Amino acid sequence: MDFKNDLLLRAARGENIERYPVWLMRQAGRILPEYRAVRNSLSGFKELVETPALAAEVTIQPVDHLGVDAAIIFSDILVIPEAMGLEYQMVEKVGPYFEKTIKSEADLIQHGQTDFNVEDRLGYVKEALEITKKELNGRVPLIGFAGAPWTIFCYMVEGGGSKTFSEARKMLYQNPTLAHELLNRITEVTIRYLKMQVTAGADLIQVFDSWAGILGQKQYEEFGLKYMNKIADAIKGVPVTLFAKGAYAALPNLAQSNCNTLGLDWNMNAAEVRKLVGENKTLQGNLDPCALYTSHKEIEQLTINMLDSFESKRHIVNLGHGVYPDIDPNKVKTFIKTVKDYEI
Ligand code: CP3
Repeated sequence: MDFKNDLLLRAARGENIERYPVWLMRQAGRILPEYRAVRNSLSGFKELVETPALAAEVTIQPVDHLGVDAAIIFSDILVIPEAMGLEYQMVEKVGPYFEKTIKSEADLIQHGQTDFNVEDRLGYVKEALEITKKELNGRVPLIGFAGAPWTIFCYMVEGGGSKTFSEARKMLYQNPTLAHELLNRITEVTIRYLKMQVTAGADLIQVFDSWAGILGQKQYEEFGLKYMNKIADAIKGVPVTLFAKGAYAALPNLAQSNCNTLGLDWNMNAAEVRKLVGENKTLQGNLDPCALYTSHKEIEQLTINMLDSFESKRHIVNLGHGVYPDIDPNKVKTFIKTVKDYEI
């Protein structure tokens, strides 16, 4: 595949770049009126995720309307629990909800299935990637993704969002054997799912460990990092990004993994992280998503300050977490323009 713009891939591999690539986590959906128009014509979020032509359309919208240097496939991390036998609902203004959860060995047998073909249950993601890839026609790389096993575990045990995920963390103390069994199963399915995405055209894979930061260092090593490493080891042929949100203490170990890029949230200082992890990884991030609520002028300054603080060119610019739904797309454009105009 010849790309018109492959900055993202060159930056991920540590190759020479003429400027920093920029994209935003959660850029597909949420902020664009063009997304809401498509979304409002449907029964809900799931219908959009499961309709490949429309998922492809909203995947490409940020490339057209914001000018980002990458597309990320429109889907959700929760398609994995569903494929394993734990159906989710996306409740308007609330978030994900699972009627059943995994609390016992019996639940695991019923709702922690691995004995299925991912193309049968998640073929709609494959198709969405294929359509997107074709329609992008090499304009920018296409990012595939999955949730990290620990984050998926959180939803499968807890049954929805939570500030503490104390049900999920409880299992680590009360039944670590069951926890590892579930994590192993999620990991196995996720690896097959990500390989399917690469075959379907994903040019880079990002693994989102959104709840990494709620575990202590030792527990994250045992229940989080171990499984992130298995995924990074298994994915071949495309660069891999590991984003362990809030897991500052895990970074030196994460840097030993088989990934190209480490995602940073906004609590982390890029220059400090560079000292911790050395020169062999690309860093991605990490402007505070709330910074996009300030004025255009101030966004420009904050972005420049961040870029000035980078100690090397091995960076992909992003926010420190997903863009918030009520951010003005024009503010996002200012952020993107500032990065594109910046001389490195
Ligand atoms: O990044 C992208 O633009 C691609 C699409 C994408 C979505 N979800 C679409 C989505 C991606 C990469 C995700 C990942 C995801 N989903 C994560 C990891 C990243 C992170 O933010 O930490 C997590 C934890 C989830 C679970 C999830 N999905 C929650 C908690 C919610 C509800 C709150 C919210 O984010 O709006 C979702 C729903 C969801 N996933 C929406 C979108 C566009 C909003 C649903 C809608 O349009 O009604």
